[in-house]
Amino acid sequence: MSTESQSSTKKSVPKQGVYIRTFGCQMNEHDSQKLYKILEKDYQPVDAPEKADLVLINTCSIRDKAEQKLYSVLGEMRELKSSRPGMMVGVCGCVAQQEGESILKYGRGVDLVFGTHNLSLAPSLIQLRKNGAPPQVAVNYREDWEDLPLGFADTDPTRHGKTNHVTAFISISRGCDKSCTYCIVPTTRGPEVSRAIAEIEREVKIAAHRGTKEVVLLGQTVNSYGRDLSPKISFVNLLDRVSAIDGIERIRFMSPHPQEVRADFIECVSSNPKVCHHIHMPLQSGSDRILRLMNRNYRRAKYLKIIEELKSRVPDMAITTDIIVGFPGETEEDFQQTLEVMEAVQFDLVYSFAFSPRPGTVAASIPELISQEEKLSRLHALQAKQERIMASRLSQWVGKTVDVLVDSYSKHNDQILQGRISQNFVVNYAAPHAGVTIGSVVKTHIIGQKRFTLIGEPVVG
Ligand code: SAH
Ligand code: SF4
Ligand code: F3S
Repeated sequence: MSTESQSSTKKSVPKQGVYIRTFGCQMNEHDSQKLYKILEKDYQPVDAPEKADLVLINTCSIRDKAEQKLYSVLGEMRELKSSRPGMMVGVCGCVAQQEGESILKYGRGVDLVFGTHNLSLAPSLIQLRKNGAPPQVAVNYREDWEDLPLGFADTDPTRHGKTNHVTAFISISRGCDKSCTYCIVPTTRGPEVSRAIAEIEREVKIAAHRGTKEVVLLGQTVNSYGRDLSPKISFVNLLDRVSAIDGIERIRFMSPHPQEVRADFIECVSSNPKVCHHIHMPLQSGSDRILRLMNRNYRRAKYLKIIEELKSRVPDMAITTDIIVGFPGETEEDFQQTLEVMEAVQFDLVYSFAFSPRPGTVAASIPELISQEEKLSRLHALQAKQERIMASRLSQWVGKTVDVLVDSYSKHNDQILQGRISQNFVVNYAAPHAGVTIGSVVKTHIIGQKRFTLIGEPVVG
């Protein structure tokens, strides 16, 4: 579920230009928006590194492949720097948090490195460097982070760059209190801290005022939201409060953790009319033995029971998931159990990954018994199976009439719009239609399917 984005906005003041390249998840997107805000006194966003005086690379380290992107971008930046004397390059985000000073060794030409808890130090690090100091590194984990100026509470929802106003991504917490043995996030982001509910409401209201129809509430385990707040509050309370905001028609969230699913959660997501009929709930493995090794503290039976309850209440609920194959020690038998769960659940979409050892995690210290070849062969087998399941899931929509929230232009044709159904499948229209406009909900007849998407025609009259 990685995203990559590039941002741009124009202002006429003679400030220097900043370009932020963002890798990774919505936590990083959120931090990039915050960085624009932190830097806005001296820098205005520009839409290409070639126009920038400062380039920041906001990095992700969830898997090795994500981390390697940093090193290829640094190569490009070194070249650019040689033709733009005075340009500064900074590395932030999860790789910065994890690698700290050693980035200066690999990445010649880097002027600053700052971690996920040191965003507010960026202006002073830049100033020091401008004054001739050596490359600056700030990756200290700070307990007091939320109290710093422009901490979580002060995030400005005015987004820079390519913004889709129809859908707003709203962070509800940061960090993670779980300790899945394969995962780097608790190291790079620290413990879970919930954002104050009033701040979330404020951001959603402002977004609604600007035309947002759908919000996606984001956190590593959204359904543990609010336990650290005082007074305590639950994720279900949050859903109720957000759904009371005028103008918001759809609510999504990512990701609930199976271990934290309780009856009130199932009750709320299956009865609140604004909550979409789509749950993204990572499974990771269908083998109890591997779940135990992963320190995922639920078992296959619990996962299946949650799905059964959701589907018995909401038969058209779409279920999507994340799966890791090739965790150290995963046998062919364990892998088959994952395929069995896929067969039982009939996921609408699966994000699947080959296990990637992350430095310092428990799983990275388990001897890897599975060759890269074997991991990839399992990954491909899983993906082939999922492709068949997805085709069948998509086919159930053909012939039906559904509500589509129109949210963007087709990737292939900028004259044609597209949207999504509650279950999150994309619907493409074959041609432009009057009444099909960005932000509208259009009754649509589904006339066909492609590999990952549906084809629709608006119902006239
Ligand atoms: N907090 C979310 C997951 C966020 S990371 C949750 O627990 O539900 C997104 C996905 O990346 C994970 O669900 C997992 O499938 C995958 N992932 C994380 N670490 C990984 C690793 N070391 N190797 C391969 N995949 C990994
Ligand atoms: Fe990582 Fe597990 Fe936390 Fe998800 S719940 S971010 S996989 S440690
Ligand atoms: Fe990547 Fe860090 Fe997010 S590792 S997935 S950017 S929390």
